[in-house]
Amino acid sequence: MDRLLSACAGEEDRLQEGSLRPLCLEDYIGQEAVKEHISIFVDAARQRREVLDHVLLSGPPGLGKTTLATIIANEMGRPLRKTSGPAIERPGDLAAILTNLEPGEVLFIDEIHRLSRAVEEILYPAMEDFALDIVIGKGPSARTLRLELPPFTLVGATTRPGLLTSPLRDRFGIVSRLDYYQVEDLARIVRRAAGILDITIDAGGAWEIARRSRGTPRIANRLLRRVRDYATVRASGSITAEVAAAALDLFDIDQEGLDALDRTILEVIAVKFGGGPVGLETLAAAVSEESDTLLDVCEPFLLKIGFLQRTPRGRVVTPAGVRHLGKGIPGCAGPLFAADEGDAG
Ligand code: ADE
Repeated sequence: MDRLLSACAGEEDRLQEGSLRPLCLEDYIGQEAVKEHISIFVDAARQRREVLDHVLLSGPPGLGKTTLATIIANEMGRPLRKTSGPAIERPGDLAAILTNLEPGEVLFIDEIHRLSRAVEEILYPAMEDFALDIVIGKGPSARTLRLELPPFTLVGATTRPGLLTSPLRDRFGIVSRLDYYQVEDLARIVRRAAGILDITIDAGGAWEIARRSRGTPRIANRLLRRVRDYATVRASGSITAEVAAAALDLFDIDQEGLDALDRTILEVIAVKFGGGPVGLETLAAAVSEESDTLLDVCEPFLLKIGFLQRTPRGRVVTPAGVRHLGKGIPGCAGPLFAADEGDAG
């Protein structure tokens, strides 16, 4: 499915996305509490000339976990090394990374919940004691050799904090959860990006893009580029509220920021499964998507805006979700729609 909001950006978008990322805390808009906490911990570590404690960042994709890792390294004046859980296949891969770190380096592991157990076990002494335990030999004659590592800061990012084992979670001294952004903050992010990309946009245009961006800066910046394309071809080149609304309507991003896949999910639950409950795998098969995409990308926002509920027996579309789809979905005249009528006023 062609998704303007897809987590997978094209190459050009990815390059531009990088150029839009703020490099220091001062330029980072939104997430005020997280920002303030990190600024205190960074200042304290710097004053004491220590490495920053390990940081765990969680939250839906696109909210700025990688950006914050970059900022932490910059604010500490240390290099950043980036990798991801799935890229570290064997314990030896992680051992090679750890033994090559510079003192104070910031190691960023994206999708840290996808590390294997064997790799994770290498991390425990590395995080706790800056040490690597190497087992030499096999059987009764096996010995453990402890190698000292340079002190470092691990920044782990995850969309699924619940999947982290408790021994790993417990070794992070700083745990921050990023939440969806306020429209005001997203509008500022859109105006900042427009300034960098030399795009003419007024306050109304920035607001229109911001409010349809699902609380997510990555989506806001991507929509800004697509609306710019529309403005270039179909308007004067400048982005006003009217131009942004016309572009986003044309690109099938609705008033709540939902795209075709989001609406298909709600519609399938409402129509095919009588409002739910329906299990994740059944739902994923019915909308022809990976269950991970539903779990990480689509559901958190639908839950946040109250269009979907997770129950022990599966997903349920709410009356507000049904109301959003509009009345008169073919084949659906069940109790959900009656409930919808009831609380519509
Ligand atoms: N670009 C993407 N996320 C941003 C943020 N939080 N602040 C400023 N610019 C951004």
